[in-house]
Amino acid sequence: MKDENLLLSIAILGGTGKEGKGLAYRWARAGYHVLIGSRDAEKAKTAADDVRGMLGEGVSVNGLGNLEAAKEANIVVLTVPYSAHRSTLEAVKDELQGKILVDVTVPLVPPKVSTVQMPAAGSAAQEAKEIVGDGVEVCAAFQNISHEHLLGDSDVECDVLVTGTSKAAREEVIKLTEAAGLTGWDAGPIQNSVVVEGLTSVLIGINKKYGSTHAGIKITGVSR
Ligand SMILES: NC(=O)c1ccc[n+]([C@@H]2O[C@H](COP(=O)([O-])OP(=O)(O)OC[C@H]3O[C@@H](n4cnc5c(N)ncnc54)[C@H](OP(=O)(O)O)[C@@H]3O)[C@@H](O)[C@H]2O)c1
Repeated sequence: MKDENLLLSIAILGGTGKEGKGLAYRWARAGYHVLIGSRDAEKAKTAADDVRGMLGEGVSVNGLGNLEAAKEANIVVLTVPYSAHRSTLEAVKDELQGKILVDVTVPLVPPKVSTVQMPAAGSAAQEAKEIVGDGVEVCAAFQNISHEHLLGDSDVECDVLVTGTSKAAREEVIKLTEAAGLTGWDAGPIQNSVVVEGLTSVLIGINKKYGSTHAGIKITGVSR
């Protein structure tokens, strides 16, 4: 075992979707135990088979219902549309206690997805914290990484801003960004997630205006 972190299990709730499956691919490739979660365990198993098919049988990727995946994992990642954010968290919050939740959700409100529209809590991640309570460290990350970068082995030139409820939790999530082949930056407390989530709407607008599909951001002026 190269790294004790590779003993960690990562559940990805809604991991059958575009962003979650890409993250599953990247973390399975790095040697983590990945549990793809879904409302439908069979759908999760199919997604896990797809990822294993791309990476080979040596990797650890399994599919489970969201609740079971959250229960089995040390770290839980949420990749569902904002419309499913609250209901998904309500359903699993007891299984998140004592763990780190990584919220990837962007609070997009269709049809105006290139306009920043934040929830009353401030951001989706702050709303998640209100739902899951003090027993869970909540981080927000990956909102500015298009799924197009993830399901494959290309180098990704976009960075990940990591905000969260403690420095220790942010450091754990930065390790996950690195395992995924990305550069993560400690972007401060969970309150700062409003900027990061909002930035996704700006990037969607830039994609539309300039004919791209995967605009991202990169931090400059700091040595890597
Ligand atoms: N796509 C991107 O490039 C990207 C980039 C950055 C951030 N994000 C954010 O990441 C999150 C996921 O994005 P995505 O593009 O991966 O979404 P997606 O493919 O549309 O959906 C992800 C998964 O969410 C689950 N889901 C969908 N509707 C649901 C509902 N009503 N209730 C419960 N679960 C539901 C589904 O899983 P099951 O049917 O298996 O339960 C689905 O596979 C979003 O908040 C998005 O803003 C996406």
